[in-house]
Parts: sequence; C-alpha cells; structure tokens
Amino acid sequence: MESSEFIWMDGEFVKWEDANIHVLSHSLHYGSAIFEGIRCYETVDGPSVFRLPEHTDRFFRGCNLYRHTLDFTAEQFNEAILETIQKNNLKECYVRPIAFYELGTIGVRPVAATKRARTRVAIIAFPWGAYLGEEGLKNGIKVLVSSWKRVHHSQFYTSAKASGAYLNAIAAVMDAQDKGFDECLMLDMNGYVAEGSGENIFIVRDGVVWTNDGTNSILEGITRDCVMTIAKDLGLELQIRNISRADLSLADEIFLCGTAAEVTPVRQVDHFTIGNGSRGPITEKIQSKYFEIIRGKDENYKRWHTPAYTDK
Ligand SMILES: Cc1ncc(COP(=O)(O)O)c(C=O)c1O
Repeated sequence: MESSEFIWMDGEFVKWEDANIHVLSHSLHYGSAIFEGIRCYETVDGPSVFRLPEHTDRFFRGCNLYRHTLDFTAEQFNEAILETIQKNNLKECYVRPIAFYELGTIGVRPVAATKRARTRVAIIAFPWGAYLGEEGLKNGIKVLVSSWKRVHHSQFYTSAKASGAYLNAIAAVMDAQDKGFDECLMLDMNGYVAEGSGENIFIVRDGVVWTNDGTNSILEGITRDCVMTIAKDLGLELQIRNISRADLSLADEIFLCGTAAEVTPVRQVDHFTIGNGSRGPITEKIQSKYFEIIRGKDENYKRWHTPAYTDK
C-alpha cells in the first residue's frame, strides 16, 4: 500500500511512521476494533468524500455496540476526516478510521467493573486504486462459493464493521484465491448467499435486479444502498429476497459492490460462466451511473458528496 504523511490519532496529527500502539492493545488480541472504509474522489467540483454522514453513522453505531466511548461528536469526526485529507494534500484517497481498545485489561470484556481499556481513534487517508483491479471492473471477476459459511447474525453483530468479524472473511478469501479465484462468496447458515469478503451481491435475472438483506447475515453496505437507489432511479425492477446457490448459476448477470470494490461485475461463479462471460448490460448501466455519480457528474446525487476542501 501507498503511505501518506500524517495520521490523525486522538485529535492530533502524528507522522505516518510514529502512529504506533501498545502490543497489549485489547483490539489486537480480541479483534474489538471498529473501522470504516470511505472513499474521497476527485470530482468535477474538486475532491469530495462520498457518503460521509452514512459512514460516520455506521462507525458510531458499531462503536456503541462494542461499547467504545468516543469523546467527539459525529460532526467533529467528519471534520477530522476532512482535515486528514487536507493535511496530506490528497485529492483522491481511501479513508480508514478505526476505534480500538488500548491496553487496560487483558480480560476478554473490555469494560470491566474496575478496569477499562481506553478507546483510541485513528484516521488514516492514503491513495488506493481499484480493489479488485481495473480489469475486473471492466470484464468481471471469478468468484468461488466458499465452504466457509458467513457468521450468522445470531452469533454476533454482523451489522458492525468490527475487525474480528473479518477473520471469517479472511478464511474464505484465502481459500478462494488459493484455488485461483479472485474473490469468495459466503453462504449464510441457512444455505442462502450472504456476501463476498468485503462486498455485497446483486444478481440480474430476466431484467429484474435482486439483492439480499440483513436476514442473510450481511453487512448492509452503503454502496448497496447507492445501487438500490440507482436501480430504482433507472426504472429497473428491484427485489430484496433470498438468493440461493442455484440462483447464482441461473443469473444473467451478477455484480459485487462495496466502497473498495465499487461496482465489480462477476463473470464466473465456481465453474459456471455468468451470462456472456463478461460485464452484462444492466451491470454496465448501473456501474457507469455509479462512476458518473462518484465523479460529481450527476446533479441529482450531489447530496452524497461532502467537499473535502471547503475553501475550494
Ligand atoms: C463484509 C462486507 N460487506 C459489505 C461491504 C460493503 O459495504 P460498503 O458499501 O458500505 O463499503 C463491506 C465493505 O465495507 C464489507 O466489508
């Protein structure tokens, strides 16, 4: 990964190489950090953070679930994100805020009666290109249906972007890539499709766009919300329903979406070719609208943008 110069830590900027934490951090041992993944795009109106309030809202909710105490408001947090981008003089970047427990207790419970591990917060902004590759964005990726199931929503908070949750995704994506695929798709505990290691899924059949929801143990993504809005605005029929494994092989088109992956077509699932084996027409329509929107080229979606440099 490409580094930048400064990292925001607990209200101050420190040099990239000095942003260190204690080895006894509770979050290092038990995965109790909450993080976000946000993109800032160079738009026709200058650098702009995409869907900042929604990311901040999810971050605060996740922190609340795992009892992190934040000593700033959502507005102050948004301001700190913009300052981090400005301080590093970035025009286009990925922003990774993270709240984690420092040392304080070695017990599993971070907030004990007498001891409390302190929550610390960092915001890192750095350049980052297409997560699943430019080629993947254009021609689609190969996806393996994993033998690892997505952890069920009755087992922990699947709606929180918690670092520990990613062990499940890591196991699945390592297996998929070892087998020559680009990404995994996990099924939920009932055998329905859940999501990729860092993306939600949409399928298209007979012109209808489908996706699943929180009952399938997914992290309900902000890009998923963008895609649902775009699909409706384009006049497409949208359904929220279970997706079975058979639905994958019968689909005319499949695509994955997420802040990092943006809108990435799927050209193959296991050994089934999807559609004509490249980006399908409805996927292309939604993807190109998404790219127009993130670049600020569609007036109707300006509400999703927060200018990163208020003086520009
Ligand atoms: C497991 C998982 N599902 C879905 C998503 C997509 O969410 P978003 O569109 O908010 O980035 C992500 C990425 O954050 C993720 O990690």
